[in-house]
Amino acid sequence: MNPMNPNRDAILARLAGSSLPVSGDVLAHELGLSRAGIWKHIQSMRKQGIRIESYTGRGYQLKSDVLSPAMLQDQLGETLIGSECMVFDEIDSTNREAMRQAEAGADEGLVIIANRQTSGRGRLGRSWYTAEHDSLALSILLRPDIGPEKVAQLSLLTAVALFRALSEFVPGLGIKWPNDIMYNGAKIAGILTEMRGEPGQVHAVVIGIGINVRRPAGGWPEEITRKVSDLSTASGRDLSRLDTALAIIRAMERGYREYSTSGFAPIREAWWRAHAASGQRVRAHGSNGYVEGIAEALDNDGALLLRTGGKLQRFIAGDIELMDVN
Ligand code: BTN
Repeated sequence: MNPMNPNRDAILARLAGSSLPVSGDVLAHELGLSRAGIWKHIQSMRKQGIRIESYTGRGYQLKSDVLSPAMLQDQLGETLIGSECMVFDEIDSTNREAMRQAEAGADEGLVIIANRQTSGRGRLGRSWYTAEHDSLALSILLRPDIGPEKVAQLSLLTAVALFRALSEFVPGLGIKWPNDIMYNGAKIAGILTEMRGEPGQVHAVVIGIGINVRRPAGGWPEEITRKVSDLSTASGRDLSRLDTALAIIRAMERGYREYSTSGFAPIREAWWRAHAASGQRVRAHGSNGYVEGIAEALDNDGALLLRTGGKLQRFIAGDIELMDVN
């Protein structure tokens, strides 16, 4: 459960930044370590499942899709989101870890990523599967100056940020209320937002983002019964978790700044435009069964307004199903 060791992180960042092998001498010299030390770190990373090839006389080359704090921060520069990044090889849940860090006083903008989650969590008490090195499990700690009733707006903001970021790789994505990212009726990414606070004031909000970056080599586990897809299949090219994480962090930075200066209205408009069911017939499943109607608007609390018969009904929690699309 420990975050990545800083020397390993530096070795990975150096290897990831080079398309050619990098020699042990160069690594040792640049990072101020002995060659034996470099070799030990490489061996221990291989034991963790990271593929690093060695080529006689030429050096080491990274073959796995790994990411590390240095790789992220080298490319992000000065941002609020990602001002601190932690990468764990294995953790219970990045959301839980972000909340533990929040309780220990961590600053807004902290990003937690894990290669494996042992109890990844989804919306409505569901579990969330993270395919090692093929999925991105990322949580962001925010400390917005808002009341608890507005936290749902941050989930919708995140859906817009994901839609914008992932649309750089895949055209034709859509949001499905409240915050699933869909491609051709299959889910590619989900968001779980959690908070700590008191009446009138939020102390910490953790935004958890799960993205299927590529299809796991052995396929999806059987217990996943819903239709799922992944970014690489949808885009037709092998995307990296690093590029996906960078695009998301940048889009979150943009969305959060927009929210802080202009409030929820522009986010709500962007969400409505990206929502696959805007103006369409949907079936909304809640804890008391379902209702059908036309999705007519989104309100400031994140509720979907459904036109059923002559009435407008607020739908607050649950899932929707599109009736006119497969
Ligand atoms: C959903 O049900 O659609 C939400 C899924 C959210 C999963 C992410 S993965 C990173 C973070 N850590 C968790 O335990 N859950 C969220």
